Amino acid sequence: MSKLFSPIALRGLRLRNRIVVSPMLMYRAEGGHTNDWHVMNLGQFAAAGVGLVMMESTKVDPDGCSTLRDAAIWDDAYVPGLRRIVDHVHSLGTPIGVQLGHSGRKAGMVLPWEGRGVLDLDHTPNPAGGPWQLVGPSAIPHSDAYKTPHALSVAEIGAMIDTWVAAARRALAAGFDVIELHLAHGYLGHQFLSPHANRRGDGYGGSLQNRMRFALELAEAVRAVWPADRPLFARLSCVDGMGWTIEDSIALSRALAARGVDIVDCSTGGMAVRGENLRPGYGYQTPFAAAIRAQAGAATMAVGMIVNPRQAEAIIATGKADLVALGRELLHNPHWAYHAAQQLGVPDPESLLPPSYAYWLDKRGRQGLGDYPGVAADPVLS
Ligand SMILES: Cc1cc2nc3c(=O)[nH]c(=O)nc-3n(C[C@H](O)[C@H](O)[C@H](O)COP(=O)(O)O)c2cc1C
Repeated sequence: MSKLFSPIALRGLRLRNRIVVSPMLMYRAEGGHTNDWHVMNLGQFAAAGVGLVMMESTKVDPDGCSTLRDAAIWDDAYVPGLRRIVDHVHSLGTPIGVQLGHSGRKAGMVLPWEGRGVLDLDHTPNPAGGPWQLVGPSAIPHSDAYKTPHALSVAEIGAMIDTWVAAARRALAAGFDVIELHLAHGYLGHQFLSPHANRRGDGYGGSLQNRMRFALELAEAVRAVWPADRPLFARLSCVDGMGWTIEDSIALSRALAARGVDIVDCSTGGMAVRGENLRPGYGYQTPFAAAIRAQAGAATMAVGMIVNPRQAEAIIATGKADLVALGRELLHNPHWAYHAAQQLGVPDPESLLPPSYAYWLDKRGRQGLGDYPGVAADPVLS
């Protein structure tokens, strides 16, 4: 019996298997508004058997956008577009979550395929059309290329948490099944956690407990408005090579779980250009998911170069994580879950597909060549 394809209950939500679409910015929104692209992109994964689709880092504030093409959830005007994505994915029998994000001092980048540089924020309005104000825990830029952020006052931190809470209410109005708090990759949540980015002398800086305060208040505040039957995830950079360690992540995960976070999504890095001390390889971040699961007592999601069905199966079967998230491999092959079910010998893999696909495929997932006696599966060999 495949563990990867065993269902899991997270509060009131049942996932048919452990395969999750990792949140991936598509840089396709216009003025924050999602469109047909997002419906098509997220729909294709839902139509091919994943357990949960996670929408890209969707921004709670225009100043928190990574690029001018980020998706927005900072105003009620964005809810109908998001609702359309949710309804489409639901119509395919698949739950969908949204990752809420704010890029903090690292906002305002050009699109990746336009050079990965930094926007000239003095002459570029934010995606809501206003002046672009970078914010962070301290007035320290991400790198020489970035502007110095405004250090949030205690009152502004309170307002920032309210901003995330308002976004969570909109996520509920749009019908999302899961919220993930983006506390990783060098963005605002991670900036508060990091001794590298956070040099505050008040209750939000200094000791580990103080640096965790923003993340914990945020989790508590969002949990309070997110229905008790819907799961809450948090993505961490479990290590960043710039002072944040796995021991810190274990302590944070324990505290997040105590505040009602159901899944710790275990990524790494992003705090500094050369901060990462990890060499990417297959499953390179999975040991962090395993450590947090074992030592913090939190359920975890492993992510990072998980590409092979047997690799994914082993991660779940050996108790390293409760879920696996796939990013680039799913871009490469949106039907990965269906193919994985076939390779792992899961009974009736076609049941993962809508009948419009399943009816026409034979047991190898190819067109129903069995219907034509004497036709070989491979045209070159026939
Ligand atoms: C195009 C692209 C966009 C991404 N956007 C996000 C994002 O919005 N939020 C996030 O937490 N990670 C983001 N990531 C990171 C992925 O979620 C994932 O953690 C990373 O790609 C490693 O997994 P993989 O090896 O399966 O791709 C992005 C990755 C890619 C390739």
